[in-house]
Amino acid sequence: MSYSRPAADRMPDPSALVIFGASGDLTRRKLVPAIWHLDQQGRLPPEFVLVGVARSDMDDAGFRQQMREALHEFVGQLDDRQVDFFLDRLFYVCGDPKEAATHQRLKERLAQLDVQRRTRGNYCFYCSVPPQVYLKIVERLGQVGLHQEGGEGKGWSRIIVEKPFGHDLETAVELNRSLHRVFAEHQIYRIDHYLGKETVQNILVFRLANSIFEPLWNRRYIDHVQITAAETVGVEHRAGYYDQSGALRDMIQNHLLQVLCVIAMEPPSSFDADSVRTEKLKVLKAIHPLSVGQVDQHAVRGQYRAGQLGDQEVRGYLDEPDVALRSRTETFAALQLTIDNWRWQGVPFYVRTGKRLKRRASAVTLQFRQPPHLIFSSDEDLQPSTLTIRIQPEEGISLTFNGKIPGPDVKLGPVKMDFDYATTFGGRSPEAYETLILDCLLGDATLYSSSDWIERSWELLMPVLEAWGASSATRVPSYPAGSWGPKEADQLFDREWRRWAEL
Ligand code: BG6
Repeated sequence: MSYSRPAADRMPDPSALVIFGASGDLTRRKLVPAIWHLDQQGRLPPEFVLVGVARSDMDDAGFRQQMREALHEFVGQLDDRQVDFFLDRLFYVCGDPKEAATHQRLKERLAQLDVQRRTRGNYCFYCSVPPQVYLKIVERLGQVGLHQEGGEGKGWSRIIVEKPFGHDLETAVELNRSLHRVFAEHQIYRIDHYLGKETVQNILVFRLANSIFEPLWNRRYIDHVQITAAETVGVEHRAGYYDQSGALRDMIQNHLLQVLCVIAMEPPSSFDADSVRTEKLKVLKAIHPLSVGQVDQHAVRGQYRAGQLGDQEVRGYLDEPDVALRSRTETFAALQLTIDNWRWQGVPFYVRTGKRLKRRASAVTLQFRQPPHLIFSSDEDLQPSTLTIRIQPEEGISLTFNGKIPGPDVKLGPVKMDFDYATTFGGRSPEAYETLILDCLLGDATLYSSSDWIERSWELLMPVLEAWGASSATRVPSYPAGSWGPKEADQLFDREWRRWAEL
């Protein structure tokens, strides 16, 4: 017998996916390839269309040609007939997504497609545009009535909002308020692509579809937890956004706190949006809030300087194009968090992320407590047992524990049991965007963020942002590109046996 999420074997309703920002990078690199793969796997109904909206002056044919090139570049060599068949479902509306006239034209086009392609008035709007444009899009959709559901000729209407969701607590609350002026909460899908990653979803399966790990998943057995998202890339061509944002906003507020919630939450009673999101919110509510005065002790930031990555010399952050002179934006951030509840009292959670680090590796490491009494004399060899969940690359799970090294003496050494996704299951793992877009078309918000979760996550980080943004704040430590971050990050550990896991 096999189990699947309730939505997994359903087919989405006939529908139109509208992408605002259709000439952008995300559409080419991720969204259209994701739709392609869904289509190839037969996960989309025949009455599905994709409508791109952007300012670039093109017609349907021009858009289809661009997407053909994107598929060849980001999916690979494809059969031309299959691509033609796929592209026949793509349409384009040219116009500024901020302007009312564009939305009026979009509405007319969607009404035509409802008839020609039988999309039945079901619309999903994907906002792949800079955050300042979301609000205008939402307002305009409301003005032309595209947010409405039910009634004559209308099906459902959903909106997917990309990150960043706000710049701080105040702007996130304002964004939620503006969305709620037009859309009801059940229509809003705040995307966090980390939640769509196979291994992140597997954390729940690992924990809750086996009875052997859950009994250990608490303060009695776990010494501490580490969550790392290390990247080797620098700021690339995104300094315009990144320099205003920094690692805490870019990665911790969303991706890493989401992973922390999946690790720390109580088992929900079922795998549906309400139950899962309620449990995740409870975790955020139980995280001990820091005061501005405690930030120096519990948070560390850093900025990369020039260094060596593999055999490549790379420049420092301040020399990247579009980075402000003397910018203090952090490209590395690490926090120590504690969760005030029965399960996790006294178990620190360390999260860290950074650009231009030594290796690309996202992982969760749970370090187990040492045995209470050791009967072997060679206790200096005793390594703490760890469970590592590798989110990427080389997705998998390893358990490291002590074993006896063969020989006449009792000598201990670490040994490893390893589960590797690719070797076990083979084939291609779906990209996060495939899972998430399909879920939205199915009306399943389990892997999307709720408004409360977003606001609470910002609330938790505000003291850190305030302390780091204060004019009296101390300098931002630097670290050489190609290292594991600033040495100050080691000082977050308050016990000698705790240190950052080597990934
Ligand atoms: C994005 C951040 O949300 O996630 C980027 O804005 C980061 O700065 C990216 O590089 C990392 O995602 P992934 O899937 O490559 O780990």
